Amino acid sequence: MQVVRLANETDFEGWRKAARALLAQAIAPENIEWLVGEESGGLFDSPEFKPVGQQNQLFDHSPSTSFRSSQSPSNELENSQFKVPRDFIELCRKAILHSDPTRFGLLYRLLWRLKKEQKLLHISFDPDVARIQFMIKAVRRDLHKMKAFVRFREIEIEGRESEFVAWFEPSHHIVEASAPFFTGRFTNMRWSILTPDICMHWDGSALSYSPGASKADAPADDAGEDLWRSYYRSIFNPARLKISAMQSQMPKKYWRNLPEAPLIAELIVNASQRMDSMIEAPPTEPQRKVVKYVVNRQNILPPADEPEALAALRRLNAAMLLSEFPLAVHATQAVLGRGAVPASIMLLGEQPGEQEDLAGQPFKGPAGQLLNQALQQAGIARSNTYVTNTLKHYKFKLQGTRRVRMLPGIGDIKMYLPWLQGEVAIVQPRIIIALGTVAAHAITGEALEMEANRGNLFPLPDGRQVLVTYHPSFILRVKDEALKQQYYKKLVNDLVSASTIVNAP
Ligand code: URA
Repeated sequence: MQVVRLANETDFEGWRKAARALLAQAIAPENIEWLVGEESGGLFDSPEFKPVGQQNQLFDHSPSTSFRSSQSPSNELENSQFKVPRDFIELCRKAILHSDPTRFGLLYRLLWRLKKEQKLLHISFDPDVARIQFMIKAVRRDLHKMKAFVRFREIEIEGRESEFVAWFEPSHHIVEASAPFFTGRFTNMRWSILTPDICMHWDGSALSYSPGASKADAPADDAGEDLWRSYYRSIFNPARLKISAMQSQMPKKYWRNLPEAPLIAELIVNASQRMDSMIEAPPTEPQRKVVKYVVNRQNILPPADEPEALAALRRLNAAMLLSEFPLAVHATQAVLGRGAVPASIMLLGEQPGEQEDLAGQPFKGPAGQLLNQALQQAGIARSNTYVTNTLKHYKFKLQGTRRVRMLPGIGDIKMYLPWLQGEVAIVQPRIIIALGTVAAHAITGEALEMEANRGNLFPLPDGRQVLVTYHPSFILRVKDEALKQQYYKKLVNDLVSASTIVNAP
């Protein structure tokens, strides 16, 4: 019996190296035992297999012994090399996250069989293939549940910004795989997710891991949870109660870590009574929709000796934030304009993107970085300009768990126009640089085609000028490198022109 010891439960590279070497030696799946973690040093342990750089150097150097992934599936032992379908490698990466201890052996058996059965992965009723697909589904489901049911609790740390800590018990080894979701969604928070096997920590810029913890290490209830429970109680609609659907979407296993869980039994018991009273109650007046805003307080709280222009901008923002904007319901927060007030140059974008929505600042993400670079090259200090967007909220649709930008329509532009007009009146720019067609449309009132109008000046009735140019996000999306450079140069040239105009006596 050959014993292979992997470094940890998700040691895909270790498994891959070992499998490659074992296959080269034609060691059959039934003769391998796969173990994880430190050696126990037991008296009857078999000698362990060391695939890389240790006893089996030979395997790595012989061309006939490695398997590698390829674009096209092949069963040939071409030049004595066994090409493994790329799909199989991806399948292994996912299946290895399952908690079933037999998964390493199962994957090796599939690899072993693939050598002779080229189409094996397409035979869905094959027991090995079906089992691995079942495992992948379970891993995917577990990842989905983790994204949905992690609940952070705030902990105050003296002298530091507070941290958010969550306790979660995944069924599979999915913590590392969930990292891109949590770092992307909660970029600007310091947080930790504690689990029994491994803990994951984010300090706002770097991710780290530590050994598993226990539930007692996580903070107990916090004040925010009372609020959350009241909210949950208020949105619970007894007329739409479907217990089986609820249980399949939110299996009981997760209930013990959800602050709203203690309410569920009581709400279910009272559902029919509440529904009866809803039916019997007289009709009520339709309520005006209440829009909940997350306000960027930094921008609206008055500093001590605030100049009048800034105070006016603050009042404008506060007034606009009290208005109803349908997009505000889904966006994280309103992203207000920032920069010098007054300023001779106003840069007008389209709408906040993913990063701006989370940070609460305009042009903070990749488009902002390109804009900064272009401004610098044009000799314009961004701090001397005022930067804002046509829409002050991120307009997006959900694709799975991803938020995907939606193009603003004319209705959106019109809705935010009073806000933009207020900003122009306060900032008093001599020139407004419209980045992209949405901004150009908003500020000139005309649907301008970019190629025909880029670099052109449009006088506004109040004497200000609008200069139309490319949006940095558009340039970032151009695939052809030479073309991208051309567009970028034109953007820089347009910024230089704007600077020349405002600096002219
Ligand atoms: N695109 C915009 O139009 N504005 C931003 O703030 C970021 C990306």
